[in-house]
Amino acid sequence: MKATAVAPANIAFIKYWGNKKDNLPYSDTISMNISGCVTTTTVEWNPQLKHDFAVLNKKTLRGADLERVINHLRRVRKILQVRYKAKVVSENSFPTGVGIASSASGFAALTLAAVKAAGGSLSEKELTLLARQGSGSAVRSIPSGFVIWHKGTNTNNSYAESLYPPDWWSLSDIVLIVTTKEKSISSVEGHKRAPSSPLFETRVKRKLPERLRKVKRALAQRDIKLLGETIEEEARELHEVARTSKPPINYLIPTTKKIINQAIPRWRREGVPVYFTLDAGPSVHIICLAEYERALLKKIKKEFLDMQYIVNKPSEGARVIRKHLF
Ligand code: DP6
Repeated sequence: MKATAVAPANIAFIKYWGNKKDNLPYSDTISMNISGCVTTTTVEWNPQLKHDFAVLNKKTLRGADLERVINHLRRVRKILQVRYKAKVVSENSFPTGVGIASSASGFAALTLAAVKAAGGSLSEKELTLLARQGSGSAVRSIPSGFVIWHKGTNTNNSYAESLYPPDWWSLSDIVLIVTTKEKSISSVEGHKRAPSSPLFETRVKRKLPERLRKVKRALAQRDIKLLGETIEEEARELHEVARTSKPPINYLIPTTKKIINQAIPRWRREGVPVYFTLDAGPSVHIICLAEYERALLKKIKKEFLDMQYIVNKPSEGARVIRKHLF
């Protein structure tokens, strides 16, 4: 009764910010799975265990983090009628809590591993519905490549599917890890506060539908300028909503601002067509055509000497592997 799954994090081009019951979003969202930021998770349902327990990056989970995992295991137990408790061991290939959605890769890998370990065979759509209840953004880490999450109207129809496979478009996403300090306000809290921003209503009613159309067109036509300009606008708006919600949240630090307001526009003027997006944290995702990756890395190394970075390609979604973590 043991299985292991690997799932990628994803970077949202159109972002989920603000939610309703069962992690239902206010709008459809679109993302790309990223190859260099993955979670590997082994789940064992074991009749000998008295409690569920979980280890992430060699640390035993406690408190709210453990509770979130246990709640998810309960969902799997209910759907697949499992009677045992579980041991969960999980490793991230990247630092947690720095604006790379670790809950996305984490809950996608947990969902697939827990279902497989129970001998269940759910469809991809059913897996996305289940993963979404653990973490909204995890819904998009199950299918491959470029993914759309249909907002739906209830817990049974808010699911994700692939728009294009990973090899549809050779993009690179270079994540600049501006700081490895964990962020102080979680996305869970950010989602709750989002509707209190005066910008939220226009965002949902007008801005998001327009941007969704643009991102769909940019992907269909592989138009980097249209994609880049739209995702930059979207990322700035997410942080404006956070900054104007009550109480306000500020995820950006001076280095983030320097990268997005000075370095990236300058690199563009120098002839490298690069664009940024951000999640709920200070790290910057730099999106460019793969052919510009080398030129860009040269600039990054020159200007931001010791900064850590992760190079990503569009990636397949969650999958089962044979090698267990215990
Ligand atoms: C800013 O679904 O990761 O990355 O799992 O509830 O912590 P929790 O939130 P999550 O929300 C992250 C939202 C975002 C944008 C996005 O990925 O769409």
